[in-house]
Amino acid sequence: MGKQRSYNIAVMGGDGTGPEVVREGLKVLDAASAKFGFKLNCTHYDFGGERYKRTGETLPDSGIEELRKHDAIYLGAIGHPDVAPGILEKGILLKARFALDQYINLRPVKLYPGVETPIKNKGPEDIDFVVVRENTQDMYCGMGGVMHEGTPNEVATQTAIYSRFGVDRCLRYAFNYTRKRDKKKTLMLCGKTNVLTFVYSLWERAFHEMGQKEYPDIKREYAHVDATTMWMVKNPEWFDVIVTGNMFGDIITDLGAMIQGGMGIAAGGNINPDPGGVSMFEPIGGSAPKYTGKNVINPLAAIAAGQMMLETLGEGEAAAAIEEAIMHITANKLKSLAATKMGYSTSEVGDMAASLV
Ligand code: IPM
Ligand code: MN
Repeated sequence: MGKQRSYNIAVMGGDGTGPEVVREGLKVLDAASAKFGFKLNCTHYDFGGERYKRTGETLPDSGIEELRKHDAIYLGAIGHPDVAPGILEKGILLKARFALDQYINLRPVKLYPGVETPIKNKGPEDIDFVVVRENTQDMYCGMGGVMHEGTPNEVATQTAIYSRFGVDRCLRYAFNYTRKRDKKKTLMLCGKTNVLTFVYSLWERAFHEMGQKEYPDIKREYAHVDATTMWMVKNPEWFDVIVTGNMFGDIITDLGAMIQGGMGIAAGGNINPDPGGVSMFEPIGGSAPKYTGKNVINPLAAIAAGQMMLETLGEGEAAAAIEEAIMHITANKLKSLAATKMGYSTSEVGDMAASLV
């Protein structure tokens, strides 16, 4: 008999409705682990707005060292109405992404059966693509500054930085992902080579060089980011895998979340694909303070984040079972994916999903 598969998971419920949706996600993960024969050892951490208010601490270096000891991180949501914007986002979410070098942000855009999309005449067969967003560079790297702040002479800069190394490793992940996904075998680079001629020229050259040399089986396409948003609404069926920079990826994946039915269903993975890398999975919606503690928020996005976590840990069968459960619920149960309108409570949706895996 082989040794039982076992994973150490750091759980960060975070703020607002984060802990509620994570609780439901864990129900489903527990059901999957029992059925598919692996073990999850969860350790809970309280990083978030409440802890910050109490201690002034966001995610200290010692917290990063703690997180590093795990096989993966399962995150609810970060964002607190009493804390100024930027503090928790930078101090917790971005800190974890950068310190753990989670250089991929993987965001599937998939319309499940029974889910309403705002795009007329499009169904699940039309909306099924994946965005690979670079996650550690661009305007997110904190390069820049401000001078004469608060005066009429104020000057501010925030620079987009890309290294060839950082672009190459993101492209490599995207090419491999496209190959493994095995759908249209098409990788589209989304950029802005007509204006951001420095950084997106780097991306474009790296893209074609790598594709030509190492991925002749993958078709390469290119679109500017503005055109990409247009096609996402007009012809979402054109896409297979999109690879893009951090800032553009942030923006187009919110649009992606809307066309797949909203924040109630959209999940993402902050992935460090290197050996020993610690990845972090999250529903991409916010902490929804107004629904906190009401048991009305949709936990499916958090459940889908759990599914991605299992997939990344190598538990593909269990991940597939969770996706089936989600699809069964969207197709046959929920009236809507929106908070308060599901026809079920948060915990009822979690119970249903757990019983279906
Ligand atoms: C996201 C969020 C974050 C980002 C914020 C909260 C820092 O919008 O995960 O997409 O910009 O990456
Ligand atoms: Mn975002």
